[in-house]
Amino acid sequence: MQRAKNTKNDEFYTQYQDIAAECDHYLDQFRNKVIYCNCDTECSNFVRYFLNLKSQGIIRDVIWSGGLGGIDFRSPESVAMLQQADVVVTNPPFSLFRQYVAQLIESGKQFLILGNQNAISYKDFFPLFKSGQVRLGYKSFGPLLFDVPVVEPDKTYKVVDGVPRAVVAVCWFTNLQTPDKNGLVLSKRYFGNESCYPKYDNIDAINVGRIKDIPMDYDGLIGVPITFMGCYNPAQFVLMGLDEELTDNRDRCTINGQRLYARIFIRKKSASVVANDNDNLTVFAA
Ligand SMILES: C[S@@+](CC[C@H](N)C(=O)[O-])C[C@H]1O[C@@H](n2cnc3c(N)ncnc32)[C@H](O)[C@@H]1O
Repeated sequence: MQRAKNTKNDEFYTQYQDIAAECDHYLDQFRNKVIYCNCDTECSNFVRYFLNLKSQGIIRDVIWSGGLGGIDFRSPESVAMLQQADVVVTNPPFSLFRQYVAQLIESGKQFLILGNQNAISYKDFFPLFKSGQVRLGYKSFGPLLFDVPVVEPDKTYKVVDGVPRAVVAVCWFTNLQTPDKNGLVLSKRYFGNESCYPKYDNIDAINVGRIKDIPMDYDGLIGVPITFMGCYNPAQFVLMGLDEELTDNRDRCTINGQRLYARIFIRKKSASVVANDNDNLTVFAA
């Protein structure tokens, strides 16, 4: 029954314009490459997008697996196709995200995949950000609208042109080259405002509920929501780990016994300088 439920939950079809809005940034990196869409049928907008690039002579080829009822991404046939490909681009089934990513990383291939933003807080996924094996794409965070075969009572939809589309908070995850995020301009202070930054019960760190409140003058561990990754710049902060990796009880953080949403722990670099969009240098307060 759980499998049937997962299968139904996996049927979210990505819209062409959302694929183009992200993938158009990587045309140089797709040039002359073989693209594999390994969770897609010939009706998939990923396949349509890459067939267009092929007809324009930008990519060498696009191959696809047939989606559900086609070739399972874990099957020997699909793995053989993966080995022939240069870049994997798709929106894989959410229920198999962990297995999917493990296979992708092991393959050593380049990839650009769409996934639920909560995947960032998975214990087996987050370390890939720390090691630099995964980063967020251009459109990081925020909802996209997906075509769905059935409307279910417990999900959020938006009706566009008379068609209900599922609203899902997603991120693009990739190991292709992307520019470093601009980082944050910090304007808040911890010292003098300690009561705004309570410490957790189960780790010696301060809680910051909103990214814009990260203080400029705190050198210890800081717990932030996963949306921090949307402006994470390695020149400014060090990623220390997830709540479930670092807390005393390897669980979510609590404050006065109240359990919080997933937290990422960061530590400020002593003085950080990052390039901004215009290649000017922004110096962050030490
Ligand atoms: C989130 S949907 C996205 C479909 C398509 N990639 C898109 O973005 O429009 C994930 C797709 O993976 C397919 N799928 C589920 N399990 C699979 C498996 N083991 N191997 C390959 N595809 C699978 C599902 O049928 C589903 O259509």
